[in-house]
Amino acid sequence: MKYANQLQNLGTETAFAVSAQAKEWASQGNKVYPFHLGDINLPTPENIVEATVKSIKDGFTGYCPSEGIFPLREALANDVGYKRGVEYGPGNVAVQPGGKPTIGKFISAIMDPGDEILYPNPGYPIYESQIEYQGGRAVPYSYFQTETGFDIDIEKLKDSINEKTVAIIYNNYQNPMSAESSDKEMQHIAEIAIENDLWVLSDEAYFEIIYEGDAKSIVSIPGMRERTVILYTFSKKFAMTGWRVGGSIGPEEIIKRIAKFNVNAESCTTHFIQNAMVEALNGDQSGSIEILKTLKERRDEAVKGLNAIDGIDILTPRTTFYLFPNVTKVLKRKNMKSVEELQNGALRHANVSFCTRDHFGRAQDNEADSYIRLAYSGISSEDIVEGLNALKKYFEEQ
Ligand SMILES: Cc1ncc(COP(=O)(O)O)c(C=O)c1O
Repeated sequence: MKYANQLQNLGTETAFAVSAQAKEWASQGNKVYPFHLGDINLPTPENIVEATVKSIKDGFTGYCPSEGIFPLREALANDVGYKRGVEYGPGNVAVQPGGKPTIGKFISAIMDPGDEILYPNPGYPIYESQIEYQGGRAVPYSYFQTETGFDIDIEKLKDSINEKTVAIIYNNYQNPMSAESSDKEMQHIAEIAIENDLWVLSDEAYFEIIYEGDAKSIVSIPGMRERTVILYTFSKKFAMTGWRVGGSIGPEEIIKRIAKFNVNAESCTTHFIQNAMVEALNGDQSGSIEILKTLKERRDEAVKGLNAIDGIDILTPRTTFYLFPNVTKVLKRKNMKSVEELQNGALRHANVSFCTRDHFGRAQDNEADSYIRLAYSGISSEDIVEGLNALKKYFEEQ
């Protein structure tokens, strides 16, 4: 019996390996401070839970349309369109079991083997995995640190485009760096996409995890609605990562094709959950407001705790629930060769678990500095304080 050769090109989320390592350490009787996974340890809002239970009791337990039920497609079209100032209808929406499925299905809909897609690196690792698994060439674009955060290297991105390029994957409000585009940067990406007639997958998983001010989407820029597919997910805003519900939103012709993959992959997203998502979008929003408030308190504790460490200096991001500090000085002080050594040491000596830059795509040749990623969505404020105190002690030791 054989396994497919093509599987060699399938990547994974290596962050899950960090989870396994943390679990192993905990099983030996250690308290672990879990900064590694972008999961949320807060309950899903009560009105959503109640709507789901009612929907099960009312018998919505069978198959439903593969593109999603009409009321949810309509509610998503209205909500997503309104918040981005563009007009969408139910035909622009294909409901998905989570945010992630949009990535592979979008790529399947627009890429042939040999085509190239630009993707952010460091970035969510599934982009690279899906492009390469499906026979394309994953072409990374990078970021550089500035006084205000992280900026996309626009020149490099532009230079990477050739006649084989079919799309740019763009994750504003970015995992793992919390990077946020200025208006100018977003405009640049849009211009590049329009000039080169490219698709854009706008991964907007964190569009509503914004602690101050408003969110902006590239789809709002004239000329972009017709070439952009939005990855939408309920996972983060409503603390429902395990429910698995989200959507692909874009021009009707591509959404029809994406929906055809739904028929082939999962037939449909769970009917009773879809019913409840209409309530999530149109009902009482106090639950999601409370979630955001808690995350913001955790962000502030985590930024304070990290900045108290000698050699670490980070800004307060306005978005996501990740922090991406530069630990180059810490590595030097500890005379360590790799950030992986620091990660292993932090678990063993401080009981603190986190990911490193290497969990977010293959590192590029010209990267001089070392970074780690801490998520504060799955850890209480008290544990953030305790954990970062322990980390300070460990990081400051020679
Ligand atoms: C940037 C980004 N895109 C997509 C996803 C996938 O979201 P979901 O869990 O809803 O599939 C995540 C999840 O962490 C993410 O960080």
